[in-house]
Amino acid sequence: MIILGVNAYHANAAAAIVVDGRLIAAVEEERLNRVKYAAGLPARAIQFCLNRAGVKLSEVDHIAIPRDPYARVGTKLRFAMRMPKFAFDRLRVMRKFAGVREDLASAFEIPPDMIRARFHHIEHHRAHMASAFFVSPFESAAVLSADGLGDFASFMCASGEGPRMRVLGEVAFPHSLGIYYTALTQYLGFWKFGDEYKVMGLAAYGQPEFLDEFRRIVRAEGPHSFRLGIPYFVHQSQGSEMTWRDATSTPVLGRLFSPYLETRLGPARKADEPLTQRHHNLAASMQAALEEVLVSCWKGLAAETRQKSLCLAGGVAFNCVANAKVLTTTPFERVYVQPAAGDAGLSVGAAFAVEHEILGRPREFTMEHAYWGPEYSVAEMKQVVAGAASEAAIAEYDESALLESTARHIAAGKIVGWYQGAAEWGPRALGNRSILADPRRPEMKDILNRRIKHREIFRPFAPSIIEEAVGEFFEQTHPSPFMTFAYPVRHEKRSVIPAPTHVDGTARLQTVSRSANPLYWKLLRKFGDRTGVPVVLNTSFNDNEPIVCRPEEALDCFRRTQMDVLVMGSAILEKKSAAAFAGTRGGDDSGERFATPAQ
Ligand SMILES: [Fe+2]
Repeated sequence: MIILGVNAYHANAAAAIVVDGRLIAAVEEERLNRVKYAAGLPARAIQFCLNRAGVKLSEVDHIAIPRDPYARVGTKLRFAMRMPKFAFDRLRVMRKFAGVREDLASAFEIPPDMIRARFHHIEHHRAHMASAFFVSPFESAAVLSADGLGDFASFMCASGEGPRMRVLGEVAFPHSLGIYYTALTQYLGFWKFGDEYKVMGLAAYGQPEFLDEFRRIVRAEGPHSFRLGIPYFVHQSQGSEMTWRDATSTPVLGRLFSPYLETRLGPARKADEPLTQRHHNLAASMQAALEEVLVSCWKGLAAETRQKSLCLAGGVAFNCVANAKVLTTTPFERVYVQPAAGDAGLSVGAAFAVEHEILGRPREFTMEHAYWGPEYSVAEMKQVVAGAASEAAIAEYDESALLESTARHIAAGKIVGWYQGAAEWGPRALGNRSILADPRRPEMKDILNRRIKHREIFRPFAPSIIEEAVGEFFEQTHPSPFMTFAYPVRHEKRSVIPAPTHVDGTARLQTVSRSANPLYWKLLRKFGDRTGVPVVLNTSFNDNEPIVCRPEEALDCFRRTQMDVLVMGSAILEKKSAAAFAGTRGGDDSGERFATPAQ
């Protein structure tokens, strides 16, 4: 049974393939076409998934699309009568989804009737919830999806049991936690699609001075519901249009906050204005109000379901600061957030919704790691590495020497590009496409920003830590394998790992288990053996672009930035200017691929 999940015609276009109940591959289109948040039809991602499963498009049994243009049609009609532009936009969306078979056939250059798969349109939030619950380790759990908007709703919660989910509530347009967060992100001067996480980082610098006002902008209502203060927004009267040209362009969102919001909170910050304490306090207030609503919803859901496990999905589930509060403020004891919690993850969710809710097949898969993307052979990596011979000192190592040498480079303050195995699924680099640095050096954040990342100085970097040491360094020990939780660093350890510790004493950690990523775990342990600190600073392998995917892109990033060292497969490349720091050579390369994550 082959099920292809496709998030198309929307930001974070992506594909996933499930064969006989197990996820085989998943990738965002942006990693392949190199356009951040690429929308449109993810033809490259689909091709990768088909290749990985060893099948042709014509052999796929089911195609799952995480959009149901007919969902909430009564509510849509009411808005359409008030807003003709809205009606036109809805019609355009419906036409687009109705033509998906033809678009696929055209992209793959086959006649439409060769696609024998049954098409399924899975409602957006059901697909979000399925993306978390059906791949979680929980047989039963409470499930919650919250985002900007999808299929005219922004929030849904359910009780999950085996291969079924029973919906307990939803919040429809125009009320939306995602729109709330995006509108205030725009108000604070961050207009790029996907900038919300920057404001989450900024919030740590402020105090929630404006919380009373923010409680008028968004407030909890009922056991697991909420309301927006409508006068603060314009999307309910002017739409919340996301526009893009095609799969090769990054989406753009129109303005969401109203002039009334500016009369209450003061003029919006312009993108080039300096950030002041007032902006920090606004960000802190916005985050605090969001957390109040989420805590209320989580508690309501816990009371209704009496579950101890919670699955979170939707873009709001990337709020790692809020997520950590599930564990301290609610009866839930376990939380699962799938690595691609946002709309890319809909491809996985839609596929598993078909597998379980439509086909009625039992659950037999848990997503325990994030390495579902493209992987390149040793021969391909060697070829790329050889191309750098004139500019870098290159050495091949056996695994033990590779780890020893890499740990030594990091401990010596070098910035190391770490390229191994299959690409991560989701927006976080989790030890296969990562830039690594010494967390013990307080100056490392500035060095990384100056030399490679060129990003806002207030944004924190994240640590990876072996799971065995989490309790030694952090105040919470619940697993965070996909960097979706920010925990307080223990007071006595804040000076030990200052580089990835944020200004409020928290860090958005990745807990690394030996089974999920054996090579990365061994590297962390090796660094720990050398320094007493089994933690490295881990940031994504990129420079203002999608995370590198192919070996060529990793080498290109190494070349054009001031990265010191590139570790690719079994090779270590040192820029010739830094070649004085030579590594210890190990044995000959065995020619084998190093340990890959358990599947
Ligand atoms: Fe969504």
